[in-house]
Amino acid sequence: MTAHSTSSKPLEIIADIASLRQRLSAEGSIAFVPTMGNLHAGHLHLVKLARERAQCVVVSIFVNPLQFGANEDLDNYPRTLQADCALLAEAGADVVFTPSPAEMYPATQTMRITPPSIANELCGAARPGHFDGVATVVMKLFNIVQPQIAVFGRKDYQQLFIIRELVRQFNLPIDIIAGETQREASGLALSSRNGYLNPAQKLEAPRLSRTLQLVVDNVRKGNHDYAAIEAQTSQYLTQLGWIVDYISIRSADTLLPATVDDEALVVLGAARQGQTRLIDNIEFQR
Ligand code: PAF
Repeated sequence: MTAHSTSSKPLEIIADIASLRQRLSAEGSIAFVPTMGNLHAGHLHLVKLARERAQCVVVSIFVNPLQFGANEDLDNYPRTLQADCALLAEAGADVVFTPSPAEMYPATQTMRITPPSIANELCGAARPGHFDGVATVVMKLFNIVQPQIAVFGRKDYQQLFIIRELVRQFNLPIDIIAGETQREASGLALSSRNGYLNPAQKLEAPRLSRTLQLVVDNVRKGNHDYAAIEAQTSQYLTQLGWIVDYISIRSADTLLPATVDDEALVVLGAARQGQTRLIDNIEFQR
């Protein structure tokens, strides 16, 4: 199946593993962008980075059941395949891999990747098992696509960290490229979940990135009582109606809680507007 693109080659849409393997077998270099679809400018930026680096750009669209908790939005997660393919054709992707859950998991996936214990903190604390599901599906996708390059967004900083560990600890011959978080003019990080926000929540949502920036300014002014900054920031957002999962200042290199000796830092936040969980982060030097 194909979708029309403005480039010379049409986008090929492939849903089964055997056909994908056959299609990619003669490719010299492959850059891969794994996604769950409902694509926006953030994903297209990753496709652009992939396009600059390899002959063949493969994007996967798969809403991975393994990484959703029982009470999460698996069933309601937006599935917009036709619109996604039009965007990918425009962005110059070559192949989109759109497996069904049965294609990816023909039997119960009893063998899983267990990520390092950092996966149980931050987003992993509120979403037990989430990063096992991410690492397992990414490992499967890497084995299926066999790219030399794979591109992930910095917005999912903890995910990026875990994928880098996966590649390092399993000696995968894949270069991981990190794409900058793309933002609306308001500062709100682009995310598929922004579509769940009602107008009032959408107006409030950019406060998360503004608040993380205040944390950065505070640390840079010389306040190194990180625990106090985190507590005050959480309290501030809570008073404004947010349900805060965490605000955390971490080492950008290890993701462990930052110490006064760490120079490269990242402040990460996850908080809900109503049912919608937003995440964001800012990397900075102390
Ligand atoms: O970031 C995502 O969209 C997903 O976690 C990923 C990497 C595609 C794995 O399902």
